[in-house]
Amino acid sequence: MPLKTKYLPLTLTICLTAACSVDNATEDGARQPQILTKNTFRDLNGNGKKDLYEDTSKPIEQRVDDILSRLSLDQKVNLVMGTGMNTDDYTNPDSKVPGAAGYTYALNELGIASIVLADGPAGLRISPSRKGDPNSYFATAFPIGTLLASTWDTDMLTTIGQSMGEEVKEYGVDILLAPGMNIHRNPRGGRNFEYYSEDPVLSGKSAAAMVNGIESNGVGATIKHYVANNQETNRFLVDTIASERALREIYLRGFEIAVKDSQPWGIMSSYNKLNGSYTPQSENILTQVLRDEWDFQGLVMTDWFAGDDAVAQMNAGNDLIMPGTPKDTEQLAAGLESGQLDEKTLDRNLQRILKVILQSPSYAGYPYSNKPDLNAHAHTARQAAAEGAVLLKNTGGALPLAKAVNKVAVFGNTSYDFISGGAGSGDVNEAYTVSLVDGLQTAGYHIDSKLASTYEQFLATEKARQPKKENFFQLLPPIVEMPLAGEALATQAAEADIALITLGRNSGEFQDRPVEGDFTLTAGEQRLIADVSSAFHAQNKQVVVILNVGNVLEIASWRDQVDAILLPWQGGQEAGNAIADVLTGKVNPSGKLPTTMPVHYRDVPSSDNFPGVETSDKTVSGIGGFAVGKPSRVDYEEGIFVGYRYYDTFNVEPAYEFGYGLSYTQFEYGSTTVSSTTFEDSISVSVTVTNNGKVAGKEVVQVYLSAPEGQLKKPVRELKGFAKTRLLAPAESQQLTFTLKVKELASFDESRSSWVADKGIYKIDIGASSRDIRQTVTFELPDERIAESNLTDL
Ligand code: BGC
Repeated sequence: MPLKTKYLPLTLTICLTAACSVDNATEDGARQPQILTKNTFRDLNGNGKKDLYEDTSKPIEQRVDDILSRLSLDQKVNLVMGTGMNTDDYTNPDSKVPGAAGYTYALNELGIASIVLADGPAGLRISPSRKGDPNSYFATAFPIGTLLASTWDTDMLTTIGQSMGEEVKEYGVDILLAPGMNIHRNPRGGRNFEYYSEDPVLSGKSAAAMVNGIESNGVGATIKHYVANNQETNRFLVDTIASERALREIYLRGFEIAVKDSQPWGIMSSYNKLNGSYTPQSENILTQVLRDEWDFQGLVMTDWFAGDDAVAQMNAGNDLIMPGTPKDTEQLAAGLESGQLDEKTLDRNLQRILKVILQSPSYAGYPYSNKPDLNAHAHTARQAAAEGAVLLKNTGGALPLAKAVNKVAVFGNTSYDFISGGAGSGDVNEAYTVSLVDGLQTAGYHIDSKLASTYEQFLATEKARQPKKENFFQLLPPIVEMPLAGEALATQAAEADIALITLGRNSGEFQDRPVEGDFTLTAGEQRLIADVSSAFHAQNKQVVVILNVGNVLEIASWRDQVDAILLPWQGGQEAGNAIADVLTGKVNPSGKLPTTMPVHYRDVPSSDNFPGVETSDKTVSGIGGFAVGKPSRVDYEEGIFVGYRYYDTFNVEPAYEFGYGLSYTQFEYGSTTVSSTTFEDSISVSVTVTNNGKVAGKEVVQVYLSAPEGQLKKPVRELKGFAKTRLLAPAESQQLTFTLKVKELASFDESRSSWVADKGIYKIDIGASSRDIRQTVTFELPDERIAESNLTDL
C-alpha cells in the first residue's frame, strides 16, 4: 500500500547516549504541535454532538475503535512512536514538562493530547528550573529501590508510590518510567540500586505495591526493564543466554508477580538480546508470555533507542517505540510497503496505546498545579529511609547512641557530601540532600567542628580539581579519602564521645562497578577504618561505620575492626535525618537485606560469567544512532542458583545472608500451626511473633519452602512469602498467616514446558533470615501436581 511520505518529522542530531537530543521539526521546518490545553468537548464536527470516542459512558474498546477508524496510515505510524527526545531543551515551547523523557504524538484534529513520560524509580525526574521562569520544579528524591525492598514492607512501598504518583500528576506527567525491577544477579550491576532484590518474590511484590501506589493517583507506572537486563556493560548489544528454567523461576517470575498483582499501565522492554533476539523484538516474551500467559492488558514500550528493527518490534507486540527516530519511521514505512508489517498489527498496538491515552490526565485536560505536596513527601521519604536501614553489626551496645554521647567525630568524605541516590535516568533533581552531619546536628549532636572544616576544605579543593561533568549520567572519579594526621586523630579521639565513618559509593547507567576499590574498599578507606579504629579504641571509644551505598560490597575483611555497621543505602533527600533517627533509637531498625553480602567477589555464583565475552571483532554501530561496540554474550551458567539459592544450597558462607538485619530488641517466634498436613489446593501457616526485648520494634517474618527433589535439582529453600509486624511494644505479640498455592510448590520443568510440584514431603521454614530459621513445619503432597502446562518455549 503506498504511503504518503511525511510520517514522522524527526531529525536525529547528536546521538551518543540516551541524553541525546532529537529535534522534532518536520522536513519543511514545522514543529509537531503538542496539545497543552484542557481537553474539553470541542465540537469538532460542528454538530453539537459528542463523538463516540469522547463519550466516556461508552466502553473504552468502542471509543478506541472509533479513533482508529478516523486515523490515516500516516497518523497511525506517528502514534506508535514517540516524538523524539528533547529532554535538554528547556526552552522548547512544545515541551510541556521540561526534562521529561518523552511524549506520544498528539492527534490535534481529534483533540487528543500528547501524553508525557518521565523517569524514574527514586522519584520524578524533570528539570528543576525553566528558562525565564522564577519558579522551581523540584521533585522529591525518595530512597533508592534497594532500600525500599529492604523495608520488606509493601504498605510502605505503596505509600511511597502514592507520594511519587502525586508529583507525577501535579507536574503534568502521565506515566512514570518506574519501578525498575531487574534481579540483582551480580553485585557489580551498575543499576542494581534502582532494582529491588536477588529474589523474584521480594522484587515482584515490592514492584506491585509501588505500582499500586503510583497508579492510585490516576497516572501510570511502567515496570522495567523486561527482561534479563542485569548488567550495564554493552547493554545495547549483549546477548543474555539463559535457560528457560532460570528465566521462568528467577528473571521472569518477578515481572509475572508484578503484572498479576498490579496490572501496570506500562512495561518497558529491555536493551539486551535474550537467547539471540532483542527483547523488544521477541514475540515469545512480549506476546506469548506477557499477554497470552499472564494476561497483561497495558502497553509495552521500548527502552530508549533499543533494538534494531522497528517492524520486528511492532510484530512482536512492542506497542510503542521510544523515543522515536527517523530510522524507525523509515523502517515502518518500508515494512508497510513490503507487506512485512500489516496495518492490522499497527491497529492492535494502537488499541493498547490509545486505551492508556484515553485514561491519562493529559487527555482529560487535568489542571495540574505544579505544586505537589513536597513537605508531606519529604516526611514520607524520611520514614521509608529509616525503615529500610539495615543494622549489620552492633557490639558493645554501640547503638543506639547512649544518652551520654554528645560530641561526635565524623569521618569519611560522604559524611559531608551524602549520596542521595544513584546516577543516570534514576537520579532525581531534588531541592536538597540532608547529609549525615546535617542530620546529626538537627538531632542535637555536637559535631567536631575542626574536623568538619578540614573535610570541607579538602572536599572543596578536590572537587575543584575534578573534570567537568559532560552529561547527567557521567560519574566523576570518587575523591580519595584524605590521610589523617596521627596527632590530630588522637586529639579527636580524646575529645569526642564516638567516631562515625561513612563509606560512599555511586553507580549508574552504562557501566558496571569494578571489583577493586568499588566492591572492595580502596586503600584510603582501609587506612581510614584502621586509623580511626585504633585511635578511638585506644581511648575506649567506639566506632560506627555507615554505608552510603547503592549496592552490596565487601565487608568481611574489615568488620572486626569496628563496633557497629549500619547500612542505610542511598536514602534520598532526607537520608541524614533518617540515619539520625536510627542512630538515636527514635526509630528501631527493622530493615533486612534484600540481597546477600558475599565474603569475596569470587563467591558470587555469576562471578566467572559477568559481564560476558565479545563474540565478534566487528564494531557495530547504528542502534538508534548510537555509536556502540562489539557484540557480546553473557551466559547465565548458574541457572536458578542466584543469590541465597546458591550460597545456601552449595554451603558457601556469606558475610551477611539474605534476609538478615539486627534490631535494638529481640523477637521470639512462637509455635507454628499449619492448616493441614496434606496439601489440597492451598496450605496456610500461622506464627506468633513476640517482642521479648526492652524497646518497641518491628520484625520481618520470612517464609521459605524446601521442596522434595524429583527430576530437578532444587535450592535448599526459596522465599515464598513475607510480612512485617506492626510496631510491637515490649511483650506484645502479633500473629501472622501465610498461604501457599500449588504454583508456589512447583519448579519449572523444561522437558514438559510445565510448572510441576513433585510429590513428597515439603518443609516450610519460618525465619528471621534465610539462615536464621526459627520454626519449621512439614506437609505432604501425595501426588505430583502440574500447576501450569503447555507454556511457550523460550
Ligand atoms: C533507561 C531507562 C529510562 C530511559 C528514559 C534509558 O537510558 O535505560 O530506564 O527510562 O532511558 O530516560
